Amino acid sequence: MRLNKFLSNSGVASRRKCDQIIAEGKVTVNGKVVTEMGLQINEKKDKIAVEGRAIALPSSFVYIKLHKPKGYACTAHDEKGRKTIFDLVKSEERLFSIGRLDYDTEGLILLTNDGDFANRVAHPRYHLEKEYQVTIEGEIKESELAVLRKGVVIDGERLPSAGVKFKSFDNGFTKLSVIIDEGQNHQVRRMFEAIGKPIKLLKRVRIGGVRLGGLARGAYKDLTEDELNALVKN
Ligand code: URA
Repeated sequence: MRLNKFLSNSGVASRRKCDQIIAEGKVTVNGKVVTEMGLQINEKKDKIAVEGRAIALPSSFVYIKLHKPKGYACTAHDEKGRKTIFDLVKSEERLFSIGRLDYDTEGLILLTNDGDFANRVAHPRYHLEKEYQVTIEGEIKESELAVLRKGVVIDGERLPSAGVKFKSFDNGFTKLSVIIDEGQNHQVRRMFEAIGKPIKLLKRVRIGGVRLGGLARGAYKDLTEDELNALVKN
């Protein structure tokens, strides 16, 4: 197996990022620094490490959906010492999340130890839809909905267009459904900030064909065969 493929399959990072890590001289094979991305390694015998940390292919694959509560970070080690989603999931495997949700966002997040699968699902080429429930204070005008749908312009740069549907207005709060197929940082929050309506509550309810469903906050379960197939069907 090629060194860059071995690293991405082990969940170190995407293939491109692994190439970069190798080029930066952070990877050793049997104790020697290697900068050749395509180097053939023997994954059963060779000892691979990234910045001194031993890397291994997972022995079996795990695919989980988690209802991330608000107030949890999506990193393995949060530099501010906050709780992370990995405090919620008990697994023998070294899991990582496919993409991230903001600390204050709740809802559906996928976890796995299968680097290839994660790279594929996260890749913009597959345009996997992500659906969010958005709550804002006050009402929203038809003209503002039109701006959100077309793609708001921030500092001369247009964010991707989005599917935006009004759902309800109740007790001074408007609920909307927002569907995007890219995952720029803080994309949904930035859209609403751009029209002067900061989000009060953001919840992801669907990724492609996988729904949050009735999963309780903080609960998780294995993806079904159908859900897995729906994620990689393209
Ligand atoms: N968009 C955001 O702004 N935040 C999230 O957590 C997810 C999408």
